[in-house]
Amino acid sequence: MNRLDFLKKQCSDSELSPMLQAAGRAALTAGFILKELYGRPHTITMKGEINLVTEADVAAETAIIASLQEDAPNIAIMAEESAGENPEQPKGRVWVIDPLDGTTNFAHGFPIFAVSIALMENGSTMAGVIYCPLQDELFCCWRDGGSWLNSKKIQVTDTDFLVQSLVATGFPYDIHAKLDQVMEQMRTLLPKVRDIRRAGAAAVDLAYVACGRLDGFWEMDLKPWDTAAGWLLVEEAGGKVTDFAGKAYSPFYPEILAANSALHPLLCEQLG
Ligand code: IPD
Ligand code: CA
Ligand code: CA
Repeated sequence: MNRLDFLKKQCSDSELSPMLQAAGRAALTAGFILKELYGRPHTITMKGEINLVTEADVAAETAIIASLQEDAPNIAIMAEESAGENPEQPKGRVWVIDPLDGTTNFAHGFPIFAVSIALMENGSTMAGVIYCPLQDELFCCWRDGGSWLNSKKIQVTDTDFLVQSLVATGFPYDIHAKLDQVMEQMRTLLPKVRDIRRAGAAAVDLAYVACGRLDGFWEMDLKPWDTAAGWLLVEEAGGKVTDFAGKAYSPFYPEILAANSALHPLLCEQLG
């Protein structure tokens, strides 16, 4: 059974089923394009001093939008390369799309990047997929349906000591303005945890928390398309997602702290 048929079967009871299949097909289509373009010379434009856009971001986004409009028309779209820099939370249903999360990795041939697609409704994520094309790993979730990696159900870890935890973070593009806060967080946490990773793709970090490769993840200055799918993926895998102070999360708020629920308060104490 292919992965889209599997999704169809697993969530056949949910009215979200057609949307989840649409998101899965769009993510696999974009992933194929990214894989084809990976490792070749790129056309790069700059959105900021260190914030790149490649021809692959644009090609993947175009393909995702076309695929979603074919399979699930009449749903609004918020996609990174065509939305404004600071979009507001829309009412009703909207696809929130990061066509290539980890552009810097992609452009340098560092093999960690993903496509992220979420279906949000009035501020909550209802379904999400994150696809890592080089690893051929399709993470997906839907509200009350659990989180899945390819055809297996996934769960966060139960690590409950900081010293036993492998956590991850990311650094903001506007690093000059945030350097002190970033260094302060590293100074606080690095001596307390087993180790810290900075893999370069927030959607992948969240997917890795959901499937237990990481115990926790935090980052400031993220956008809705970085986290909308990963938020639900972590929660449906049994984890907890908030801001640094432990308050209710929204992808339209820039900071995120995601972890298994035992570790979450311990990380919150350090970061909040
Ligand atoms: C970025 C990646 C990175 C994170 C940045 C994001 P992009 O997304 O997720 O890990 O640190 O904050 O903006 O630009 O590659 O889609
Ligand atoms: Ca991103
Ligand atoms: Ca992106």
